[in-house]
Amino acid sequence: MIINTDFSPDEIINNINQAFRNAAADTSHNLRFFSVATYDNGNNTPQSRMVVLRKFLPDWTLRFYTDYRSSKVADIKNHPSVSLLFWNPEERYQIRVQASATVHYQNEISESEWQHVDDAAKKAYTTILAPGSGISQPNEVRRQKDNTHHFCVIDALPFQIKVLQLNREDHLAMSFIRESVAEKWDGSWILP
Ligand SMILES: Cc1cc2nc3c(=O)[nH]c(=O)nc-3n(C[C@H](O)[C@H](O)[C@H](O)COP(=O)(O)O)c2cc1C
Repeated sequence: MIINTDFSPDEIINNINQAFRNAAADTSHNLRFFSVATYDNGNNTPQSRMVVLRKFLPDWTLRFYTDYRSSKVADIKNHPSVSLLFWNPEERYQIRVQASATVHYQNEISESEWQHVDDAAKKAYTTILAPGSGISQPNEVRRQKDNTHHFCVIDALPFQIKVLQLNREDHLAMSFIRESVAEKWDGSWILP
């Protein structure tokens, strides 16, 4: 259990930290895939989609990869506040994260991450058309012949975390906030 009535806020935030570290290191971890919700300004609506957790950094940055032309990137550039959602079905807890997202494209961070993407996965970022473009056949995917790619890295830096532990007897929930990276997470119990 990530939360127990006996645990202090510090123990709980450390458990969450450990869970994210494990998820970034282990491709079969339950928190490896998560949902990212952005605000789509053009259509005035929220949009959510699944992504893969690639890295968890010491300042709590949650890193994922995407195509620079995807609509999530445009959403984030317009409105950097994002909401991330994780669910661990085995241990029956949910983690909701509010974060501020930064797009890294054609810079030192994206170039360095690109070196670690394996060749098969690299293909996903070399399509001629942008993700979401209309195509006439299901398998009509044309790729760049040169080294052109649209790989980009998104870093989401959390400022609020809510954790909910489902428990047959009593559900438990705690909310944490942190105004800056230098600050310690401030946790308090909330009604589940
Ligand atoms: C399990 C799963 C993992 C995914 N991981 C990623 C990912 O890491 N990065 C990504 O850009 N899209 C990923 N996708 C696809 C996205 O959910 C989404 O369909 C795509 O990125 C286009 O999103 P957008 O148009 O809202 O930007 C994943 C989909 C699934 C089902």
